[in-house]
Parts: sequence; C-alpha cells; structure tokens
Amino acid sequence: MVDLQGRHFLKELDFTPAEWRWLLTLAGDLKAERASGKQRQRLAGKSIALIFEKTSTRTRCAFEVAAHEQGAFTTYLDPTSSQLGHKESVPDTARVLGRMFHGIEYRGFGQERVETLAAHAGVPVFNGLTDEWHPTQMLADQLTMLEHSGGRPLSELTLAYVGDARSNEGNSVLVSSALMGMDVRLVSPVSLRPAADVVAAAEAIAAQTGAKITLSDSLDAVAGADFIYTDIWVSMGEPKEIWEQRLAELLPYQVNAALLARTGNEHVQVLHCLPAFHDLGTSIARDLHALTGLTEFEITHEVFEANANIIFDEAENRMHTIKAVLVAALG
Ligand code: CP
Ligand code: NVA
Repeated sequence: MVDLQGRHFLKELDFTPAEWRWLLTLAGDLKAERASGKQRQRLAGKSIALIFEKTSTRTRCAFEVAAHEQGAFTTYLDPTSSQLGHKESVPDTARVLGRMFHGIEYRGFGQERVETLAAHAGVPVFNGLTDEWHPTQMLADQLTMLEHSGGRPLSELTLAYVGDARSNEGNSVLVSSALMGMDVRLVSPVSLRPAADVVAAAEAIAAQTGAKITLSDSLDAVAGADFIYTDIWVSMGEPKEIWEQRLAELLPYQVNAALLARTGNEHVQVLHCLPAFHDLGTSIARDLHALTGLTEFEITHEVFEANANIIFDEAENRMHTIKAVLVAALG
C-alpha cells in the first residue's frame, strides 16, 4: 500500500519503484476522470505557494491549473516580487510560507535550495526544476510513453536520450528510467555525461529493477530505440558565452532524420520536454542563427513537426502528473 501523504517531491532518488509507479497510475486515473467530466476536488481549501526563480510556461501553468481543478488556491512568487534569497534566507522564507500554505513548489538553481526549503517548511515541497533534477517532467514523459507504447509496460521499452546528458534532464531521465526498469541509453559527448555519483545511484537502482543502462558517445547506441528524447543544449542559468562551444560539441547529436534512421525502428517516436529550438521562432534562436548560421538546433523542424502530436501530449501530461503529485501529498 503506497501512501505519499505529507511527502516532499524533490528528486527521483527519494522514491521506490512502487511509489513512482503509483504516481503514474494516479496521474492516468486523474486524467481519465477529468476526461469523463466528473472531476472530484481533492484539494478544496488547500493553499499552495509557487516559487519560480527561473522562467516557466508549462510547469507554472500545470501547477496552477492542476491546483485550481482540484479546488486549491495558488500564489505565484517570482524573485523580483518576493524577499527570497536577497533579503530573506531560504530557511526563514520556508518557515514563513510553511505557516500559511499547505504545500510549496520551487523552481530555481541549486538542488540544495529546494532541499533546504523542504527541511524548514514543515509542509510538502515540490521540485519544479533545479539545476540537477526535473522530476515532475519525468512523470509526464513516462505517462506519455505508456500512452504511446501500444500497451507495452515501461520495462519493455528502450529510451535513448540524446544531447546534453549532464543536465537536470539527463540526470532525471537516467534515474527515473532505472526506477521503471527501462533500457535507457544516454547518448552524448563524454564531457556531457551525468556525474559519477548519479550514474552509480542509477546503477544501484537498476540492479534491483532490471533496468539496462548505457552511456555512449556513439550514435550507434540509438539502435532499437522505441523513443528518442532530447532537450535544449544550454539550460537556464548557464552563461550565454557557452552557446558557441556547446553547439559545436552537440551538433553531431542533433535529432534529425539521419539519427532516427539509425534506430532501425520505422515507428520510433520522439519526445521533447520543451521549449525547443527547431526553427527561428524565438529571439534566442535568431541570436544563435546570427552567430552560427544554423536555423535549427537540438531537433530539426521536420522531426519536431512529425512528432508534434506526442510532444504536445507530453506537454499536456505535465498537468495531469503534477496533479497526481499534489493529490498524493495533500489530498
Ligand atoms: N518543460 C518545462 O519544464 O517547461 P517550462 O520551462 O515551460 O516549465
Ligand atoms: N534543461 C532545461 C530543461 C527545461 C525544461 C533547462 O534547465 O533549462
């Protein structure tokens, strides 16, 4: 019997495979209940603080809509409109918010900040992305794979994550896939692999769950993949100056038609956590175009649009899975 009442949601390593699977099942149930038009409100009277020290579209909206649909109230705090960090310490802010709110979401920089918040708040804290981990994203990705796998469980699926694997996404894909017993491959330059302690932790989980872990700098490692997953090449908080070098390092790992052909799987599907640089529709992409002449970056426009259906299912699933996290902890 899984019970996550009152529990923080800080990183995948804090959960057992059974707990993680239970959240996925709950998310699917809540999604089906919403589709039936008979949604029950399990968070009526609850208040949730949403702290965003980095920008967001999906995560913020997912928390707000999920909370609202379950009857909870949210307050949004950004770095310029709160005292956090510059005028009041994280432990003090945690103790203030913990007196008023039933739960706190935090998106920001180092993982230690969300861990400190959790240590002092006295109420459940939810990680909406840090430099090291992006656990709510993983629930959405896995729910999406389940919905697009033709009935196969995660433990029978092969996921190849291609690109910057040393990021929050790389770490989280590795550990969450290990939890679910998947065949997971991180395909990246050696310099952009997860830290040794993250790999060791994932391998220890894999020894229990039967997951298969491959770290490779060779594109051959995508052979047989059911899903290819990528993310932007420079994450929030990384300096602008890094782009040129990162582009040069990661251009061979672009998700394009040639890479998909290497899977040998004509039904391979592509995931992207978004936002994506697949065209010149953003100011950052246009700046990079001026610098490099490139018009598409981690994923080609052609591959992105061919997989738009599953990629935007994945975006929608942020809401259903975050709802499950809130209901599990506070419902
Ligand atoms: N995928 C994701 O976390 O998107 P946002 O940065 O828009 O929240
Ligand atoms: N690695 C990206 C993920 C965005 C959802 C970042 O941290 O910016």
